[in-house]
Amino acid sequence: MDLAITLDQRSTTPLHKQLYEELRRAILTGRLKPGERVPSTRGLSLSLGVSRATVTQSYEQLLSEGYLRAETGSGTFVGCELPDELLKTMPVEKFRPTASSLESWPRETGRQLELSSYGASIADSDPFEPPQNDAPINFKTCRPALEEFPLQEWRRLTLKHYRSKEYSMLNYAGESQGYEPLREAIAGYLRHARAVKCGADQVVIVNGAQQALDLIAKLLINRGDRVAVENPGYLVARRVFLAHGAELLPAPVDESGIVVDALNSRPKNGLKLVYVTPSHQFPTGVTLTLPRRLDLLCWAEKTGAIIVEDDYDSEFRFSSRPIPSLQGLANGDSVIYVGTFSKVLFPSLRVGYLVAAPSLARILARAKWLADLHTPSIEQRVLADFINEGHLERHLRRMRTLYDNRRHTLVRALENHFGDRVTVLGENAGMSLMIRLRSELDDDEIERRALASGVGLVGARLYYLGEERPANTGEFLLGYAGLTERRIREGARRLAKILK
Ligand SMILES: Cc1ncc(COP(=O)(O)O)c(C=O)c1O
Repeated sequence: MDLAITLDQRSTTPLHKQLYEELRRAILTGRLKPGERVPSTRGLSLSLGVSRATVTQSYEQLLSEGYLRAETGSGTFVGCELPDELLKTMPVEKFRPTASSLESWPRETGRQLELSSYGASIADSDPFEPPQNDAPINFKTCRPALEEFPLQEWRRLTLKHYRSKEYSMLNYAGESQGYEPLREAIAGYLRHARAVKCGADQVVIVNGAQQALDLIAKLLINRGDRVAVENPGYLVARRVFLAHGAELLPAPVDESGIVVDALNSRPKNGLKLVYVTPSHQFPTGVTLTLPRRLDLLCWAEKTGAIIVEDDYDSEFRFSSRPIPSLQGLANGDSVIYVGTFSKVLFPSLRVGYLVAAPSLARILARAKWLADLHTPSIEQRVLADFINEGHLERHLRRMRTLYDNRRHTLVRALENHFGDRVTVLGENAGMSLMIRLRSELDDDEIERRALASGVGLVGARLYYLGEERPANTGEFLLGYAGLTERRIREGARRLAKILK
């Protein structure tokens, strides 16, 4: 075999490395064929004028990587299965699931796959993730003012942990319930700011409120169990309960919050659980009044039902003090409290928490372990420092003022442009508000026209349950926290224009 190989004696790359690269290239480009014998180390060292050790070193590397194979007594050959071929990834055709591909999914794979009842219940539903909306003025998402987040502090604390050389933090965390100093910090914050009765042993750190709801449903709901939800209410929570086989009872919401009497409407068939957002009802924005809170707790004591209190954005109240949590008012263990850092910090962090009686918290932590072992450790450590060094409280104070101003701007702009054709519903709180518009146009048409003029808007009809869903509500949810006052004013002006 005559191999044209040139090595550069003056190069800073060692000769054995150059030879390795040359031979590897010859194999990959087919100049050396699979199965072909390569020269002996002695022969090649003579023909190239390099030491035999140089050739041996490059051969050894090619052998260890599978480019060459040695046969005792016969010589050295090019391998038949080249490692680079094996490692090459095949280009995958982009696949975007459509409603019809989802419907036919188990059949189109060619084999009959029998989904569990859980699998079947989620395979048949509408798409879960809302379509992305890139309207320049987007009232659709209730996202925080991300640009205001103190990234520098977060970065500093993150770097502190990465620099610490405490390699054990890279290992699996010992506790699925969550990093203890973070649980302590959250328990302290909740006792102080939300009057939640809890110790760190009752806190379970989860991947957002979403995972809290999923774990609660897994532990408490059997197929056919009845779960009451606010109507209108948080669509995502409803989906979780339905996926676990719950039968949903929609409970109406009036200006005092969930109508507790409606929970007694079918006493023969007991309710297992009721899901509520008492501080700032989603989406109407009303606050559950104290008498209603007491009625609800009394009802739960009497019936043995569990109340899930989702306190997702209670930190933002602008004209009154935050209302203490429902959990803090309860005598027994009837309330599971759920909270999240998605609104007060940022949603991609995916850290939330739940508070339950210690015995239930332990079982919830086991369910968490089965689901994903634990929430990422470094983020938990950074967050614990962020709270303990006072950054959370400072950030909250700043955001309260900012959101209050943005909300005022929105309400004023709506009143200026719409006059008595608009009613702003709910309390002076949160990151979004619901409005009722008087218009001849139906909800879909308003959404369509708004989008055409660059304004993203979500009709509240989506949040009403099934048959109870009215054809037209004239109600819309406007998220304002992530929009500047200028954009808010411009958005309201454009909306008024399309409705003229
Ligand atoms: C009612 C309600 N609960 C909880 C959440 C937050 O969920 P997560 O913590 O999973 O981001 C939201 C987010 O929009 C919400 O609207």
